[in-house]
Amino acid sequence: MALSKRLSAIVDVVDSGYDEIWDCCCDHGLLGIELLQQNKAQLIHFVDIVPELMQALNDKLVRFATNEQCARWQVHCQDVAMISPDPNKRHLVIIAGVGGELLVQFLAKIVGHHPGIHIDFIVCPVHHSYQVRRYLQTLSLGLVSEQLICENKRFYEIIAMSASSSKQVTRVGQQMWQLTSKEHQAYLKQLCAHYQRMLNQDAAYYQPVLDEYSALLL
Ligand SMILES: C[S@@+](CC[C@H](N)C(=O)[O-])C[C@H]1O[C@@H](n2cnc3c(N)ncnc32)[C@H](O)[C@@H]1O
Repeated sequence: MALSKRLSAIVDVVDSGYDEIWDCCCDHGLLGIELLQQNKAQLIHFVDIVPELMQALNDKLVRFATNEQCARWQVHCQDVAMISPDPNKRHLVIIAGVGGELLVQFLAKIVGHHPGIHIDFIVCPVHHSYQVRRYLQTLSLGLVSEQLICENKRFYEIIAMSASSSKQVTRVGQQMWQLTSKEHQAYLKQLCAHYQRMLNQDAAYYQPVLDEYSALLL
């Protein structure tokens, strides 16, 4: 199956220097399969919590993986928060396609359970990128890249963080914006309209968020 524009963009951001890559919340495993086919790491982990999905993915990999690939993948039917990366390896954890608030919970648990292990992240939340970025600012990781992808009229931010970068990630994605692009303008207007509406719920929290995004329009 052809990879979506969003998943292709994630694959393109993946550096080949990792020992192990974790495709977390992998669903049908399309992202991890592409990483396996492109030899992006010695070992690709597929993680999802739904047993039927993981059984089907396992069967598919057994059928289609080449001899050379057969020792280079593992399927884990488990909670992403409970992954157990080998402390002696260099890991990239990718979490895409889940809500931003849940994504922050996953990140916090993974980081909290494995202090001292080299884990870089690529994240692509569904909504709430501001909250995700605010959490990323608390980690000892720097920004590698950030980009905006528009797919089926939905917008996705892809944020890559690594211990090898010392660049500060910003809450609004300062480097991501190409404000001459109509798509970028549309996304920024959508965010401003959203946070404008949220003022009714908690103005003290949301006004500074709205101000930060609005400043990009100036
Ligand atoms: C929409 S899919 C995302 C698929 C793919 N990553 C993508 O970006 O297209 C979300 C997946 O997250 C999985 N998921 C949700 N909570 C999880 C958890 N706590 N641990 C592992 N997987 C989880 C769901 O089972 C589902 O397959």
